[in-house]
Amino acid sequence: MSERADKVSVLFVCLGNICRSPTAHGVFQQLVRERNLAQRIRIDSAGTGDWHIGRAPDPRTCAAAATRGYDLSALRARQVGAGDFQRFDYILAMDEQNLRDLARLRPPASRAELALFLSYGDQGAREVPDPYYGEGEGFERVLDLVENAAAHFLNALIERHRLHAR
Ligand code: 4NP
Repeated sequence: MSERADKVSVLFVCLGNICRSPTAHGVFQQLVRERNLAQRIRIDSAGTGDWHIGRAPDPRTCAAAATRGYDLSALRARQVGAGDFQRFDYILAMDEQNLRDLARLRPPASRAELALFLSYGDQGAREVPDPYYGEGEGFERVLDLVENAAAHFLNALIERHRLHAR
């Protein structure tokens, strides 16, 4: 957990920070709250791109998430920066391009774990497909993949960092 106090910190990253990473942010946040671990885990999300800075998640993302009980309305997009590699223990990319962009941004001294988010899932997919230009079912697919990976990732954190509810 390094110098970042006693919280494990997690940053979810996609391209625009209005579809996939806010979904991961909201789903993981809710799971963490349900397990009474909100005092132990800090969560954020960001995009590699800058087009949507300051905006709420895409309305289609919010609507799909709401049908499963997740409220993403308070989230606002921001762009990932090199400083995030000092502020977060885990930086989790939604797809391979995000991962490549993050690897280029990463300062050599960073000790953050940089990985594909779905490397924690068990559904056989490596990437969360970008739903932005597609049909509505893309947003359901995002939720399916994110819910699966979020549950496994939380279990991994609990074990690795010996987290207990407070
Ligand atoms: P996200 O989806 O990376 O999951 O937030 C996208 C949102 C916006 C754009 C691309 C992907 N865009 O090109 O504006």
